[in-house]
Amino acid sequence: MDRTDSPTVVVLGSVNMDLVTTVPRRPAPGETVLGSDFATVPGGKGANQAIAAARSGARVRFLGAIGDDAFGSELAATLSRADVDISLLRRVDGASGIASIVVDETGENSIIVVAGANGRVTDLTAAELAAIAQADILLCQLEIPIHTVLAAAQHARASGTVVALNPSPFQPLPEELWAAVDVAIVNSLESEQYSGKLTHVAHLVRTLGGDGAVYRGTDGNERSVGGRTVEVLDTTGAGDAFTGALVATWNRGISTALNWANTAGALTTTRLGASSAIPGRDRIAAALTAD
Ligand code: RIB
Repeated sequence: MDRTDSPTVVVLGSVNMDLVTTVPRRPAPGETVLGSDFATVPGGKGANQAIAAARSGARVRFLGAIGDDAFGSELAATLSRADVDISLLRRVDGASGIASIVVDETGENSIIVVAGANGRVTDLTAAELAAIAQADILLCQLEIPIHTVLAAAQHARASGTVVALNPSPFQPLPEELWAAVDVAIVNSLESEQYSGKLTHVAHLVRTLGGDGAVYRGTDGNERSVGGRTVEVLDTTGAGDAFTGALVATWNRGISTALNWANTAGALTTTRLGASSAIPGRDRIAAALTAD
């Protein structure tokens, strides 16, 4: 896939250091279990999706904030190494965002996020607004303040930039935000949680975990892609890989984009961690060729 025919994508969102503990099973309330492994892995829904889009060939600029701690430096370096433009990434006083993640032996996880610097993205600078206006696609999630997501989406809409929203983690959203969204990407649970709100979104993509994904377009017709058989090690970041890859291939038509994104998501589950597990173009293309 050639970078020149891929969209320019601005991702506005979170960047976290993931503190990942591997356990045989996730603890019940009040229970202590013995973990088998621990790792720090760069993550955050925004950063993961930016990296996924870049690895799928899009030109990506990231808008968000890191803290002035050691995690912040590592997170910035990770984005940069993935070819994501961080020239507008803010460095603020205090701690970077973190996520405490527990992964069990089936690959399922539980996640607690502490926003840190992500919570400080409370407004948009003139340079950030200009970047949004110049992009083909704006991609947001919900790990930074909602009013900033709303301001970005409305600015993008007014500028002719396509607005893609992965409304995760779930929270009630203002109607004005839904009105500004062109493409929503949700998992099965979010699809239920947001059910009444998704009806008027022009392009809706629902991921089904190991069972693939379904697209519903403006004509109301659905198109789906089935699950891929892979050996699941850790599902963390699979939805982010799907979303970033979908956006990167959006202008190639929905069948191609769905297939590509589905493969990116599935391959992500075969390795530990979020950003570290997201596949590049060659791996995705090879898996698709082998079908
Ligand atoms: O979607 C996975 C991500 O959610 C993790 O990387 C973690 O940082 C949280 O934001």
